[in-house]
Amino acid sequence: MIKAILAIVAGVVLAAPACARDHASSSAIRHGEFLVNYGGCQDCHTPGWAQNGGQAPKDVLLTGGGMNFQGPWGTTYPPNLRLYVQKLDVKQWIANLRKLKARPAMPWWTFRYLSDRDLADMYAYIRALGPAGQPAHDWVAPGQDAPPPYLKLVVPTPPPHVVPPPHH
Ligand code: HEC
Repeated sequence: MIKAILAIVAGVVLAAPACARDHASSSAIRHGEFLVNYGGCQDCHTPGWAQNGGQAPKDVLLTGGGMNFQGPWGTTYPPNLRLYVQKLDVKQWIANLRKLKARPAMPWWTFRYLSDRDLADMYAYIRALGPAGQPAHDWVAPGQDAPPPYLKLVVPTPPPHVVPPPHH
């Protein structure tokens, strides 16, 4: 009996990694949802999210162009992340976020505090939402006409350079 139980446990443990590679578990998706929401991704990447106190219908979540920004870098539109993940597998998503240096106001440095597993879980959640919406407007260079709405920012002089900590 004990042997049989051990055999089943061993089987489950051995099968788990293969399973995790193919299908995101519901706990991975839930953890990804937590990271996306607490990480503030919806604030900018979901239209109406901030204006509605952190809520949006499911078909609008992360569809991009939520909060756009104009400043010395031109005008930036948060991309539609539900379409963005369609073009990438999880490894490419992680590699992209690790080397990302996007224009304002994308807080690309926050990924430094997340493990590859965390990033994979975020990917799992966004993939699970499924494709929806249209691509957001492309970046518009400084001084060129950009479609509103956008927040116009007056940017202060940056403080002296500080070396960031390595990611965990
Ligand atoms: C304060 C607003 C803001 C927040 C918060 C934010 N983003 Fe962004 N994000 C942007 C903007 C604006 C761009 C477009 C930047 C550009 O055009 O260079 C962008 C770009 C991106 C891109 C595209 C990068 C590329 O060029 O390939 C990804 C992926 C992304 N964001 C993911 C996230 C995730 C995940 C979160 C949550 C952890 C997040 N963003 C939070 C505003 C934001």
